[in-house]
Amino acid sequence: MAEVIFDHVTRIYPGNDKPSVDDLNLDIKDGEFLVLVGPSGCGKSTTLRMLAGLEEVNKGRILIGGKDVTTMQPKDRDIAMVFQNYALYPHMTVADNMGFALKIAGTPKDEIRKRVEKAAEILDLTEFLDRKPKALSGGQRQRVAMGRAIVREPKVFLMDEPLSNLDAKLRVQTRTQIAALQRQLGVTTLYVTHDQTEALTMGDRIAVIKLGILQQVGAPTELYDRPANVFVAGFIGSPSMNINVHPVVNGHARIGEDTIELPKEAVDKLTPEDNGEIVVGFRPEDASLAAPDDENAFSLKVVNVEDLGSDGYIYGNIIKDDADRTLDSSSLMSDQNKLTTIRVNPRVLPQIGDIVKIKINPAKMHLFAPSTELRLN
Ligand SMILES: Nc1ncnc2c1ncn2[C@@H]1O[C@H](COP(=O)(O)OP(=O)(O)OP(=O)(O)O)[C@@H](O)[C@H]1O
Ligand SMILES: [Mg+2]
Repeated sequence: MAEVIFDHVTRIYPGNDKPSVDDLNLDIKDGEFLVLVGPSGCGKSTTLRMLAGLEEVNKGRILIGGKDVTTMQPKDRDIAMVFQNYALYPHMTVADNMGFALKIAGTPKDEIRKRVEKAAEILDLTEFLDRKPKALSGGQRQRVAMGRAIVREPKVFLMDEPLSNLDAKLRVQTRTQIAALQRQLGVTTLYVTHDQTEALTMGDRIAVIKLGILQQVGAPTELYDRPANVFVAGFIGSPSMNINVHPVVNGHARIGEDTIELPKEAVDKLTPEDNGEIVVGFRPEDASLAAPDDENAFSLKVVNVEDLGSDGYIYGNIIKDDADRTLDSSSLMSDQNKLTTIRVNPRVLPQIGDIVKIKINPAKMHLFAPSTELRLN
């Protein structure tokens, strides 16, 4: 068993006044593939490096397989890391690169050969074992770096953005391979990325972190369907969720010049700190074009449309008053990140400049309190 436990773990770098990782509680189950995701600088690498023993823990404990490793030397922790910059030794063959750590550790030669051959088979590298790294493609080199970790047969794999050196297409291929490989080997894995797509597609569970503080942990669909706060709602999913603050009037959210019904139990949870407002979020695929006289819909001035063949996207501005109706679309374009995105059937795309009615699927509405940014429904 190699369950990993972070128990109230905090890291404050010398000279910093704020922790880079703040009171982290996280439990990675035996054999689980856990993806740690968050924006640049949020503390992902710090978390991973503390587990590896490369960074000091200032408060709390780290356990691997029930054993407290908080102050243990990296070499005694039985973990293997794959980094973003997996420099291979250029003068060594693929086989020697993969077996190098075992050689240093004094493992017998035929045992090394056996493990390297087995790893090469899993990684589809058998025919390249006698080549030098320079005669490999980027994806093959990345697999050699994986091989170096696999041959050590560790209790835990740690991977820090191992795909960021690969081009977009190769990343997609390789992430599928890594996820499949991890399932085959069943080694507990902590995988770090800032790419939410990688997190959604690879992990058994995802842990989202922001400014050193864990926001939510759960299966990919849990995070997608029920984000616990505004940050997770906006971070997970592409294109990202539409999120706006709206006044609450008689149990309805006022969106521009229209109002839409809100579930009572969510409205009841609002407090005076929320100042009569609510945060409404909905994903582009959870809204649709509505009839012009639909009561429970809001008006959107179309600023841009995209036809991707399989999907169509409308980008628009919520109409707040009559002035919005007459503004030409070029002036509306300026505020790109405020645009509302709606996925529609590409065969019924409106024209740029049109005003359309949009209806949100009520079961797929995400509601948050403005004051705490926490989920209400
Ligand atoms: N040695 C250090 N000394 C002081 N501050 C540090 C040190 N290393 C990291 N930090 C700070 O700690 C915070 C977290 O850094 P960390 O490298 O863990 O982020 P990250 O999530 O891995 O980011 P990225 O996605 O850019 O790799 C950052 O604000 C960073 O500036
Ligand atoms: Mg990092």
